[in-house]
Amino acid sequence: MKPEVLADAGAVARAAVDLIREVAGHSLAMRGVFRLVLAGGSTPGRAYEMLADTVTDWNGWQFYLGDERCLPVDHPERNSVMLRQTLFDQVAVTEEQLHMIPAELGAEMGAAAYEEEVRPALPFDLVLLGLGEDGHTASLFPGHEHPEDRLAVPVHHAPKPPPDRISLNYGALCSAGTVLFLVSGAGKHHALDRWQRQGDIPAARIQGRERTLLLADEAAMHG
Ligand code: 6PG
Repeated sequence: MKPEVLADAGAVARAAVDLIREVAGHSLAMRGVFRLVLAGGSTPGRAYEMLADTVTDWNGWQFYLGDERCLPVDHPERNSVMLRQTLFDQVAVTEEQLHMIPAELGAEMGAAAYEEEVRPALPFDLVLLGLGEDGHTASLFPGHEHPEDRLAVPVHHAPKPPPDRISLNYGALCSAGTVLFLVSGAGKHHALDRWQRQGDIPAARIQGRERTLLLADEAAMHG
C-alpha cells in the first residue's frame, strides 16, 4: 500500500475533506444517498471539524461508525461523543441520519444490535479509518480473530483502552467502494513501515471495492 505523503496532519485532514466531498457528490448524484463510515482518533477528528465548516447541505448523508468503546453514552472517550463535538452538533443533521454503535449495551448485545442496523446499509460508499501504533484499525487488533460471517463484532482485551469495544468486521468495511486511511504523527511510523514491508497488520486486510487510499503525513512516513 503506497501512501500519498502530505506535509502535516492538517494537510491530511484537508485532503480527506476533499475526498469525502467528492465521493458524497458522486453517491448523491447516483443514488440520492451517501453512506459514510466515520473513524475515531485524532487525525479524523480534525477532518470532521473542517467538514463541518465546508459542507452546507447534509441531505442524504447517512453516518455510521467503524468502532466504539464500551462506555456510558456520554463518556468523553466515546467516539460518538467526539463526533458530536466536532461534527453533528455543529451542522444541520437529524438523529435519523446518525447510526451510532450502542456500545453502552455491552460488547455482545451492542454488536448484535449494530449488525442489524448496518445490514440494510451495505455496501457503504466511503469508509474512513485510522491506524493504531500496533497496526490496528477500527477496533480490529493484531492477533484477534473474528467470525467472518459477522458484520459487527464484540472485542475484549483490546490492548488500547478501554478493553471492551465493538467494531465493524473486515467484510463490512471491505464492502465500501472507497476506503480511506488517515495517518499522522511519528508514533505511526513503525506501523506504516510494517504495512509496507510485510503487509501483515489488520489495516492491510481492508480494501475498498474500487479503491483504497492512504494519506500519511511526513512524520508518520519518516518517523
Ligand atoms: C479508537 C479508534 C482507533 C483509532 C486508531 C488511531 O476507537 O481507538 O477508532 O481505531 O482510529 O487507534 O487513533 P489516533 O488517530 O488517535 O492515533
